[in-house]
Amino acid sequence: MLKQQIDRESFKIETSKSILSPITTQYAQDIFKEFDEEITKYMFPIPAKNISETIDFINHSIKKNLAWKNIQLVILDKSTKEFLGCVWLHEPETSTPELWIWIKKPVHWKKYWFEAVQQLKLRADENIIFDYLIYPVDHRNISSCKIPERLWWTTDWKIELKKTPDPKKILESITYKIYSK
Ligand SMILES: CC(C)(COP(=O)(O)OP(=O)(O)OC[C@H]1O[C@@H](n2cnc3c(N)ncnc32)[C@H](O)[C@@H]1OP(=O)(O)O)[C@@H](O)C(=O)NCCC(=O)NCCS
Repeated sequence: MLKQQIDRESFKIETSKSILSPITTQYAQDIFKEFDEEITKYMFPIPAKNISETIDFINHSIKKNLAWKNIQLVILDKSTKEFLGCVWLHEPETSTPELWIWIKKPVHWKKYWFEAVQQLKLRADENIIFDYLIYPVDHRNISSCKIPERLWWTTDWKIELKKTPDPKKILESITYKIYSK
């Protein structure tokens, strides 16, 4: 639940290396190109088959952003404005919103995720009433598990098998929790 009204037009988060900004169709080509089989290997979604699927997804996300049913952001390099990936809070109006992130492969190993996740959590603490954020992750996804572990999240390591739209892809999911301040 929102603590206060946020100006949706000017919603933006700046970190030292990047800017997080609400998703727009301007990034359709980047998202279509970068959100591929490898990136989604341990994620619930599957890659779009054509760009119109990506545009539909973005338009749906914009509607949900405007209704505060989602906070779907692109991550941009602060100086060049190059598209780097996406980070989002799913169902921010619930007591346990889910946090998701992906970064495009050419800029892996640069720790762009760190400030993006840290600052989004800070913004959530300031603006949303919630018990804890959930970060669901496949335990085989080592680089992703490192994100909550670096940020002092907790998990009980209980593995839950989750089906995805791809019948061959079954996720072995564990859930990290980070409590609100
Ligand atoms: C998860 C993700 C955002 C992390 O971003 P990144 O830029 O790759 O992250 P980093 O470079 O900081 O790497 C993370 C850590 O994992 C380690 N790591 C990565 N692959 C590893 C492997 N196979 N074995 C051991 N460690 C590994 C890195 O050494 C690094 O550890 P360090 O911080 O101790 O140096 C990115 O990999 C991504 O977008 N993955 C695909 C989408 C995804 O799975 N999202 C999460 C959904 S839950």
